[in-house]
Amino acid sequence: MSNLRFVQGVRVMNWGMKNRLSQIMGRHDDGRCVMLAVDHGYFLGPTEGLENPREVISPLLPFTDSIMLTRGILRTSVRPESCVPVVLRVSGGSSIIGEDLSKEAVIASIEDAIRLNASCLAVSVFIGSKYEHQTLTNLARLVDEGERYGIPILAVTAVGREMARDSRYLGLSCRIAAEFGAHIVKTYYCNDFDTVVRSCPVPLVIAGGKKLDEKDALKLAHDAISSGASGVDMGRNIWQSKTPVSMIKAVRSIVHEGLDVEGACSTFIHQPTKANVTTKLQK
Ligand code: R5P
Repeated sequence: MSNLRFVQGVRVMNWGMKNRLSQIMGRHDDGRCVMLAVDHGYFLGPTEGLENPREVISPLLPFTDSIMLTRGILRTSVRPESCVPVVLRVSGGSSIIGEDLSKEAVIASIEDAIRLNASCLAVSVFIGSKYEHQTLTNLARLVDEGERYGIPILAVTAVGREMARDSRYLGLSCRIAAEFGAHIVKTYYCNDFDTVVRSCPVPLVIAGGKKLDEKDALKLAHDAISSGASGVDMGRNIWQSKTPVSMIKAVRSIVHEGLDVEGACSTFIHQPTKANVTTKLQK
């Protein structure tokens, strides 16, 4: 479990919890992770670039440490022989055209998560939103269930529409999620990100957010890691890129190999070719 030495609180975890957490955060000797997020359809439907999940996921699997997705996409779009750890999204219940995105419930049972061999469960909390309370109680319930069965919980934090995505509000959200017992917290990168990291006593991973130019997305990943993030949980900036395989390799080089933005760009980001757009491998 030496790869988990960076994870605060790991000493008091049971073996199953440590084992699953090490599948997410401990596949390398740096305590960091590259998580591929392909769960967007749970409220966005067939998101641009993710219309055919199987085609998108398959070439990227060899280069990610874990994959975050819903059970519907896992069952239909990932081969069961895959060895890539699964971060199962288990909250949802609203769509982009519905009343309020924060109106979420827990949408999968712990038994089904275990059947699906999930290594981690992901639940959104919407701080400062109309349904803040119910999303926090969703998190609390999942932490209880996760502790019962040794499954870590990833809290996906979001802040209310009128709140700035700054260190004050993101810090508030991350800290609340950690206080509720989340084992990993996902947030957004912001100025003074190190203050968000310092006040959150569990590993933080950052979302990529809306599609950026490749170099800007790599800078975001680099700045976050330099400020203390434990990894990335990136979606659109990988699979909406013209060269998704190159992009995930570049992100990986920043997270695990310490490359800077120039180095990652010059090594991996080239014009689209058959080789960097697709490979037939599926781990
Ligand atoms: C929301 O759709 C999900 O939790 C995403 O997984 C998350 O926002 C990360 O994806 P992206 O890098 O595209 O923001």
